[in-house]
Amino acid sequence: MISGGQRDELIQAACAARAEAYAPYSQYRVGAAILVDDGRIFTGVNVENASYSLTICAERTAVFKAISEGYRNILALVVCTENAGSPCGACRQVLVEFAGDIPVWLVDAGGNGRQTTLHTLLPDHFGPEHLT
Ligand code: THU
Repeated sequence: MISGGQRDELIQAACAARAEAYAPYSQYRVGAAILVDDGRIFTGVNVENASYSLTICAERTAVFKAISEGYRNILALVVCTENAGSPCGACRQVLVEFAGDIPVWLVDAGGNGRQTTLHTLLPDHFGPEHLT
């Protein structure tokens, strides 16, 4: 269960991180923040490339930062964009590897938006449990 304070901190972190997005081609800047099991927050931004398909989304940047520092359990996610856009399918799939039906907040630059959950975004998903 995420406290209101943790949610607000995550929203702030995602929207602050968004300033560092590298999006010269789409101009669509995205900031993400995830909460891991010891209370730490990892942020990420989208990083585009002149070879367009090499672009990485903000959500996956945040997840890979956390995983590369030893974390395996993601408890919550905030995505901050200009219009409270929703995570792409690739990011949803990467998230289910390390998270259950976590709360996901989709917010605009002012921190306003809506809450959903990861399993609402990716129902009937394929996950690690299918390979055991
Ligand atoms: N983008 C993200 O960072 N996250 C998403 O879930 C959707 C799309 C980025 C990728 C690209 O840099 C820009 O938004 C436009 O697609």
